[in-house]
Amino acid sequence: MYKYDENDRRIVLERAAQFKSQVERRLTGALKEEEFRPLRLQNGLYLQLHAYMLRVAVPYGLMSSTQMRMLSHIASKYDRGYGHMTTRQNIQFNWPKLDDVPSILDDLASVEMHAIQTSGNCIRNISADQFAGVIADEVVDPRPYAEIMRQWSTFHPEFAYLPRKFKFAFTGATTDRAAVQFHDIGFHALKNDAGEVGFKIYVGGGMGRTPMIGKVVSEFVPEKDLLLYTEAIMRVYNQFGRRDNKYKARIKILVHEMKLEEFTRRVEDEFTALLEEGGLPLDQAEIDRVAAYFVDPAYEDLPEKSASLDQNLADNRDFSFWYRQNVLTHKKTGYAIVNLSLKKPGVPPGDLTDVQMLAIADLADKYSFGEIRSTHEQNLVLADVRKDDLFDLWGALNASGFADPNIGTLQDMICCPGLDFCTLANARSIPIADKITSRFDDMDYLYDLGELKLKMSGCINACGHHHVGHIGILGVNKKGTELYQITLGGSAGDDASVGKIMGPGFDEDGIVPALEKILATYIDLREDGEEFLATYRRVGMTPFKETLYANH
Ligand code: HEM
Ligand code: SF4
Repeated sequence: MYKYDENDRRIVLERAAQFKSQVERRLTGALKEEEFRPLRLQNGLYLQLHAYMLRVAVPYGLMSSTQMRMLSHIASKYDRGYGHMTTRQNIQFNWPKLDDVPSILDDLASVEMHAIQTSGNCIRNISADQFAGVIADEVVDPRPYAEIMRQWSTFHPEFAYLPRKFKFAFTGATTDRAAVQFHDIGFHALKNDAGEVGFKIYVGGGMGRTPMIGKVVSEFVPEKDLLLYTEAIMRVYNQFGRRDNKYKARIKILVHEMKLEEFTRRVEDEFTALLEEGGLPLDQAEIDRVAAYFVDPAYEDLPEKSASLDQNLADNRDFSFWYRQNVLTHKKTGYAIVNLSLKKPGVPPGDLTDVQMLAIADLADKYSFGEIRSTHEQNLVLADVRKDDLFDLWGALNASGFADPNIGTLQDMICCPGLDFCTLANARSIPIADKITSRFDDMDYLYDLGELKLKMSGCINACGHHHVGHIGILGVNKKGTELYQITLGGSAGDDASVGKIMGPGFDEDGIVPALEKILATYIDLREDGEEFLATYRRVGMTPFKETLYANH
């Protein structure tokens, strides 16, 4: 994990001190809310339905156990004893008091964390594949590049006031787990035939009210040109992005309106101009310096097979289900990657308590080199667990509530905070998620359904990624009634697609029966071993619509 140097430390502390003085002026009334608003947003502080909300950056989802302990301390001292993992790998606190926020920022700074650029029209927290560096199908470890981009984009003066917020995501594996095609810029690190590292760059993806899949602006930007090429893209956006209309301000609209060819031409021109201005390519020494923070931990040389694991798998059915569902193959023999599920009936997706945070920090120290990762699907990961330790870890995870064997199933749904917290919401989403996870809690049935991505948002802003759910649910408000509109066929993976709306929405009581019908239709129509998305793509919307709206 990257460690701050003196400059990083100083900048973050100075920022916390500045904000403290701004908060003091707000509290005395010297600053009005309109004046304070841009200042607080630059520090990740939102004003929500019932309280302030503070969004803390977790760069590319990596945290240390020390940082997790500090998050636990913040949750218990300044909040109501919990935090919420978001779809951008960040953590949010829902109940901080304004006068406590400077102390929270100081506490965060003491463990190299902050809330800078987690809001506002700037380059936001950079997300990445949660299995970067450990997964077997990786071609290039994207973490050093994500870190270089983090350093480059934080406080970049030219890009502090973009037309709109801006999101980067990185992957370096053959399977995209970072939804790079749904980001303003998605970076897919790969190698060319000569074995050199470069990036396939997608631009103009995003969700919100106009969902769009990113378009390829370059098939291969060599690593030395990563910063200059990105700068060229940002310059074109900064210059031509629509500032007159908030709803048309994202780069996806610019690329769409300008057309990809013209956009790419302008980017190439800017890139040439940058080189002529004397823009420096990213040098190998700098890449190596940052990469040194991401070298493998002190893995032991272990055999591929673990006799104790095999024995426990044979003896314990529950353990074997968990192993099948939540554990993944590690690149290093004798190790495994463990997903901690933050999804279960009765708990809002992504929430974890201060006590659970402490438990996770201890488990990370004991089993995973003191490191924890957050995923864009609102779960956590211990990335480096010895196979011999899996059974013990499973016992401990059971005790702290993270061993639900439901990763990748319908229960593993993504859900935004909705009307329980969010000022922009049209409908509640957390209680609906609970109704759904409680209704579909028969694991045999869920396993039989196979991989199913269910995603729900409480409004069109799409924080819950409903557009890319195999089944998406969107909360809408029709004449004062909360309704839930269903989409089918979305995917955030390599086969990216935007879901299609089925028809009129359902009320709170109708949404679970509607899902039951959709799932029953899938079971009827699927061919051998076919997953939901494949069936939908083969048969189309009609049969689903016919069963769902048969009696309407
Ligand atoms: C509760 C306070 C929140 C507010 C006020 C808020 C606001 C918004 C708004 C206005 C958008 C639309 C942006 C646009 O189209 O330009 C958006 C998108 C998004 N938000 Fe949130 N959000 C909140 C919480 C969350 C949470 C909890 C998550 C994660 C679970 C999240 C993740 C996202 C994502 C991934 C997008 C889609 C970005 C895209 O357009 O591609 N947000 N949010
Ligand atoms: S999708 Fe809408 S309701 Fe949900 S968190 Fe985002 S802005 Fe709020």
